[in-house]
Amino acid sequence: MTMQAQMDTARTLVASGKGLLAMDESNGTCNKRFAEEGIPQTEEARRAYRELIVTTPRLGESISGAILYDETIRQRTGHGIPFVKVLTDAGIIAGIKVDLGAKDLACHPGEKVTEGLDGLRPRLQEYFQIGARFAKWRAVISLGDGLPTPGGIRANAHALARYAALCQESELVPIVEPEILMDGDHSLERCRVVTEDILRAVFDELHSQQVVLEAMILKPNMVLSGLHCPRQGSLDEVADATLGCLLRNVPAAVAGIAFLSGGQSGELATARLNAMNVKRQAMGSRTPWPLTFSFARAVQQPALHIWHGQEAQRLAAQQALSHRVRCNRAALLGEYHATMETP
Ligand code: 13P
Repeated sequence: MTMQAQMDTARTLVASGKGLLAMDESNGTCNKRFAEEGIPQTEEARRAYRELIVTTPRLGESISGAILYDETIRQRTGHGIPFVKVLTDAGIIAGIKVDLGAKDLACHPGEKVTEGLDGLRPRLQEYFQIGARFAKWRAVISLGDGLPTPGGIRANAHALARYAALCQESELVPIVEPEILMDGDHSLERCRVVTEDILRAVFDELHSQQVVLEAMILKPNMVLSGLHCPRQGSLDEVADATLGCLLRNVPAAVAGIAFLSGGQSGELATARLNAMNVKRQAMGSRTPWPLTFSFARAVQQPALHIWHGQEAQRLAAQQALSHRVRCNRAALLGEYHATMETP
């Protein structure tokens, strides 16, 4: 893929009025979610669950790209069709999570840095051969007393930029995901300040690694109060804080922005995305990029709960997944309303 083709892929992923489906849980994370629901933690259960997702009827009407995991990108349906082909046939671009997880950052108690740069180049080339056309790397930042430190921010920003440059060299569109966790009692204002610090550091490093912004997607957190903060921001406050933060720190050249859900409920994540798109429309040309979703939990959770590892529940689970992606698609147009949640 030439750089022009990468730019076209990035635009298709974010600017087609659709969103991304993150189904890239590592085996450990997937097993943890299964354990919470009492589902056996086997490779076959993970395969069956992923088959349920990728074969959901009309998924391609709302989803432009699906982020897979190393195990998943090699898996097939019960009839032997590779998941990548099922997605491609549905008009969905296959992507791949390539980081190897967040590990303790040396000499920085309470902070993590994402690993996976060593040996990344041949892994990217292999994923491209299998059919991936974009990739994802997630950096994790916790807010706390004196955290994050400048060293923690810089280490994560640098790794994100090294990853993004390697992706573009291997003809994959990088999704750059610096995530501030919702855990804690921090205020919305503190989340805004730190999100701005991180975005500035990330774009500084992306610039120094010569990453082409038109061929990348930013996957940020929404600016939110901590889960245990007694004062939670209203839809308007969250939308204003998030948009303002992005406008001040994300270059207009970036192909688009696709939010993570971070543990918000499906309904809340959709309502907040909708509020942002309502404001974006009102601001017209002052917001240069599309604002879409790249949710995992906020899209999958109801479906996983309904499925419960039981084949008889597959259709009902697919309906729940369809419902969430349709609500999120409406939110991209600023047309979501809570009444859509009542059957
Ligand atoms: P959540 O939407 O569950 O936060 O997951 C998004 C994601 O891809 C995390 O890397």
